Amino acid sequence: MDTIELPLPDDFHVHLRQDAALASYVRDVASQFGRGLVMPNTVPPLTTLSAILDYKKQILAAVPHFEPLMTFKLSPNYTEETLYAFKEAGVVAGKYYPAGVTTNSQDGVSDFESVFPVIEIMERLGLVLCVHGEEPGAFCLDREEAFIRRIEILAKMFPRLRIVFEHLSTESAVKAVYALPATVAATITVHHLIHTLDDIIGDSLRPHHFCKPLPKRPADRFALRSAAFSGNSKFFLGTDSAPHLKGKKECPCGAAGVYSAPVAIPLLIQIFEREDVLRKLSNFVSGFGADFYGLPRATQTIKYVRNPWVVPEEVHGVVPLAAGETLDWRLYGQV
Ligand code: DOR
Ligand code: ZN
Repeated sequence: MDTIELPLPDDFHVHLRQDAALASYVRDVASQFGRGLVMPNTVPPLTTLSAILDYKKQILAAVPHFEPLMTFKLSPNYTEETLYAFKEAGVVAGKYYPAGVTTNSQDGVSDFESVFPVIEIMERLGLVLCVHGEEPGAFCLDREEAFIRRIEILAKMFPRLRIVFEHLSTESAVKAVYALPATVAATITVHHLIHTLDDIIGDSLRPHHFCKPLPKRPADRFALRSAAFSGNSKFFLGTDSAPHLKGKKECPCGAAGVYSAPVAIPLLIQIFEREDVLRKLSNFVSGFGADFYGLPRATQTIKYVRNPWVVPEEVHGVVPLAAGETLDWRLYGQV
């Protein structure tokens, strides 16, 4: 088989950044995805309807046919009126960043219980809660595991709330998501299917692989791959594609984030094909996420051909995932 046609994929977790760089990042995402759940950790963060709508306008100005699914950054400060207005305007989710755990999250949630009233309103309005599940202050490799109990508490307290445990990185979190009710789903990134901690610090320091949550042990990667290949509808793609300029990664205090947008789907085809589970790819990238969010599945399709290509070393000043590597599949019509 030398061509593959997929329903146009959705990326249920993507960073598009701001200002001059935004248009290029949107174009990269829109070349292979029809919709993207746009993260709100901009500076300043997306916390008001006018900021969210202005940001959406900028995204659409870059690529009018792309569908940005908008989010807001969770805090204890929202009123019911504000959240209602978000919902009416088509905002789909609120993002819970524990304070300080990742890029631009210093203003995140520092008191877990303080956001319960806002979450209760989100549950009533049908707004999805997306969670960066890492416990501030825990040892870096234990942060996700330490946060699982909070996801369990939220699922129990708010039984109708849809919760997405974002970018899973541990076997424990995979097990927890399986065990929790159908209201709890999870995204998995491309880089967490490929990397373990060895690919960041095992032999030499690889700053372009550094991200949060940290990729962990081989057993964790195996659990993530098994979940992605399982055909279980709780697990779907959210790339967490997070571009940082080369100089912000190759420096004494480098930023966390992997730029996977330009290579995400070709890499996934390669991974799924090599495991002989290509038939599971379509739901993972173009089905289960839309179902969970209550969105129609894509009707458009996208085609890939087996035609090896070398991933550029740099794209708009950012070093992408798999830079310099040869990938088996490329977007049809791409030269
Ligand atoms: O590696 C990451 N980068 N993880 C996140 O949670 C945020 C992201 C970013 O915005 O750079
Ligand atoms: Zn993210």
